Amino acid sequence: MRHLMNPLDFSVEELEKLFDLANKIEADPDKYAHACEGKKLATCFYEPSTRTRLSFEAAMLNLGGQVLGFSDAASSSAAKGESVSDTIRIISCYADICAMRHPKEGAPMVAASRSGIPVINAGDGGHQHPTQTLTDLLTIRSLKGKLGGFTIGLCGDLKFGRTVHSLINALIRYRDIRFIFISPKELKVPDYITDMLTEKGISYEEVIRLEDCMPQLDLLYMTRVQKERFFNEEDYVRLKDFYILDKEKLSAAKEDMLILHPLPRVNEISVEVDDDPRAVYFKQAQYGVYVRMALILTLLELA
Ligand code: NCD
Repeated sequence: MRHLMNPLDFSVEELEKLFDLANKIEADPDKYAHACEGKKLATCFYEPSTRTRLSFEAAMLNLGGQVLGFSDAASSSAAKGESVSDTIRIISCYADICAMRHPKEGAPMVAASRSGIPVINAGDGGHQHPTQTLTDLLTIRSLKGKLGGFTIGLCGDLKFGRTVHSLINALIRYRDIRFIFISPKELKVPDYITDMLTEKGISYEEVIRLEDCMPQLDLLYMTRVQKERFFNEEDYVRLKDFYILDKEKLSAAKEDMLILHPLPRVNEISVEVDDDPRAVYFKQAQYGVYVRMALILTLLELA
């Protein structure tokens, strides 16, 4: 039985197969409409979510399966003090596969170790968010035709943003990637990541102003300042509008640069940018459904 805790749990070849399957699903969704008939997905969400939970549910429903779960720790037995290990043992009696989001780093991994069914990490604290990374990689591969050979700017909350941590982790396995980390000093990418890049000889740069690197970028990955992970409101208020991508800033970008964002967006991308052909964040959310369909099929060994 296989779980997904980290994007590196799949080899590059396995990911290629997964993305090929996601593209096949995109091209002919009807062919997969009954692939999970009789199967159930449990979504156990101890933290807020719109896209991740609903895209998992949509993915399973699109495959002809069924869904059950909870979207709030307060409405689950966690409120009575039940551990994730106990909860997953129970969920294993009710469902065939589980997607779990938890505010504590490592909680889905603890669950996986006691689970009778595959567990997918749907985001654990500020740590990892592997299915968002699969979504990001599928979007880049589908729209750029390749994974590798580009300069990617990651902008915003690089300290607490788990989507950023997961994406960097996954991208280092592809060739010729240059990272530019764009953040205020307070929200820099953690040292363990830059140390890992240095150790592997992967080039990266850290800048504060988006304007200083815009013309170099092939991909711009914008992120929200992660309000819920701040220790004090004052710091959040000071930093929340540090970056606002608007048409004017975008005028310095390459014609074929892609703008990605895991969403939700707050103020970091002005709505006037939404109509620009380079803005692909809403398309990205659609790719998230295809890749989760492919992932469910793969982990249930139905692919
Ligand atoms: C991200 C998350 O939950 O980490 N959202 C998502 O799953 N698409 C990004 C965020 O909340 O900022």
